[in-house]
Amino acid sequence: MNVILAKAERYFGPMQALAPIDLDIGDGEFVSIVGPSGCGKSTLLRLVAGLLPVSSGQVVVDSKLVSGPVTQLGFVFQQPILLDWRTALGNVLFQVEMRGERPAPWRDRAKALLDQVGLGDFAASYPHALSGGMRQRVAIARALVHEPGLLLMDEPFGALDALTREQMRIDLEALWMRRRMTVLFVTHSVDEAVLLGDRVVVMSPRPGRIDRILDIDIPRPRGLAARRNPRFLEAEESITALFLERGVLSRA
Ligand SMILES: Nc1ncnc2c1ncn2[C@@H]1O[C@H](COP(=O)(O)OP(=O)(O)OP(=O)(O)O)[C@@H](O)[C@H]1O
Ligand SMILES: [Mg+2]
Repeated sequence: MNVILAKAERYFGPMQALAPIDLDIGDGEFVSIVGPSGCGKSTLLRLVAGLLPVSSGQVVVDSKLVSGPVTQLGFVFQQPILLDWRTALGNVLFQVEMRGERPAPWRDRAKALLDQVGLGDFAASYPHALSGGMRQRVAIARALVHEPGLLLMDEPFGALDALTREQMRIDLEALWMRRRMTVLFVTHSVDEAVLLGDRVVVMSPRPGRIDRILDIDIPRPRGLAARRNPRFLEAEESITALFLERGVLSRA
């Protein structure tokens, strides 16, 4: 599914949260969005999902103008919001039940997805018996079960420890390489943005606008080795330099 933002802008009252954004994302592309806190990244995702209307401009998803919630997408929030009284499998199936479908025909698919995110043995476990990383994996499986062509991820690994986060990144890349859905991945981590993205969109401080777009031409799977690739270092350095220039980062 393609995503086009054409001068998409959002105000909250008098406050401009997102300056007009122009962005054209191709079908199957993996785009990372990185920028300082409060620059409008979550707002941008909500505009794409149709959960929030634009103040002006347009958003197009799957070649259709967005004018209300887009149902053919998956959304992974920063904190995995799971239903405590449902098993991992039950939480994944909730996605299809919410859409008014009978869960039975989806069970095998939901199980296969839990397998793919490394939770094959935990389908019958309740959230309280899962670690934070495992819960986030359930949320990712839930976002994918209805086979969305578009996956929106809002700092999905923000609450995880460094090691789990690294593994989740590697697993997400593998999943994406198999399924090739379009992904918009919001993160605060320059490292993560560069390691995952075909392109990295760097946003300016509030009101957020696109400061730069970098093409990340590093072969996949990138795994752990890509951090030693000169193109990785080059991209990371140029984003860091931009953040220093903008006062998002300062030298000690
Ligand atoms: N519903 C809302 N009502 C009023 N202001 C809002 C609302 N949602 C967001 N904002 C404001 O819009 C700006 C952008 O918010 P947004 O959540 O998109 O930032 P963000 O880049 O996702 O930040 P973070 O990285 O901290 O998650 C902020 O100044 C925020 O206070
Ligand atoms: Mg946010």
